[in-house]
Amino acid sequence: MSIPVITIDGPSGAGKGTVSRAVAKKLAWNYLDSGSIYRSLAISALDKQANLDDEQVMAQVATDMDLAFDCGDELTVLLEGVDITHRLPTEETGSVASKVAAYPEVRAVLLQKQKDFRQLPGLVADGRDMGTVVFSDAEIKVFLTASAEERAKRRFKQLKEKGIDANIDKLTKEIQERDRRDIDRKAAPLVAADDAVYIDSSHLSIDEVINQVLALAEK
Ligand code: C5P
Repeated sequence: MSIPVITIDGPSGAGKGTVSRAVAKKLAWNYLDSGSIYRSLAISALDKQANLDDEQVMAQVATDMDLAFDCGDELTVLLEGVDITHRLPTEETGSVASKVAAYPEVRAVLLQKQKDFRQLPGLVADGRDMGTVVFSDAEIKVFLTASAEERAKRRFKQLKEKGIDANIDKLTKEIQERDRRDIDRKAAPLVAADDAVYIDSSHLSIDEVINQVLALAEK
């Protein structure tokens, strides 16, 4: 029997991370924040001053990357043994991540690293292509979205809480730009899987979304 997976895909700021973490905790399943892998690659590339415009160079940086995850209450990510967790949420990291995530060779290298998270008793995986590509055989697929304005507001609050300076208009523009790049790319574009349940969280509380996903899992 294959190990069960719940995939939660959607644009940035839709609440995927919070919802996925809570569902994984409730079910006592493993959790994969696939965006953090692309974000770690962005940090590795920036630190190495590697050429972001060169697909092969980026695929090599992805191959060489020594990443370790500690999925305790809060996710901790070690790159070459150094804790980079605090560098993951910034918009610069997100923007470079979405640039390098568009390269098919990079996605091919990172595919197995993501599949390795599928371990007993089950996995909740959040990202853009969890239900369409990485875990296309998942039992439960959710596509979680919200309006760009609402997502920018939530992102603003999140960054402020982490003590990171942010501007709401700039954030809205950056989110729209990142959405466009993720939707328009040829390799694993951001799209709902045919068999995904669509949830618009614009007017829902986080708890309401979590309960909807848990209800799907119970079924
Ligand atoms: O989810 P998060 O905002 O952390 O993801 C950062 C970027 O990584 C996204 O904008 C997207 O371009 C890329 N990504 C991806 N596929 C995933 C997860 C993230 O292409 N499964």
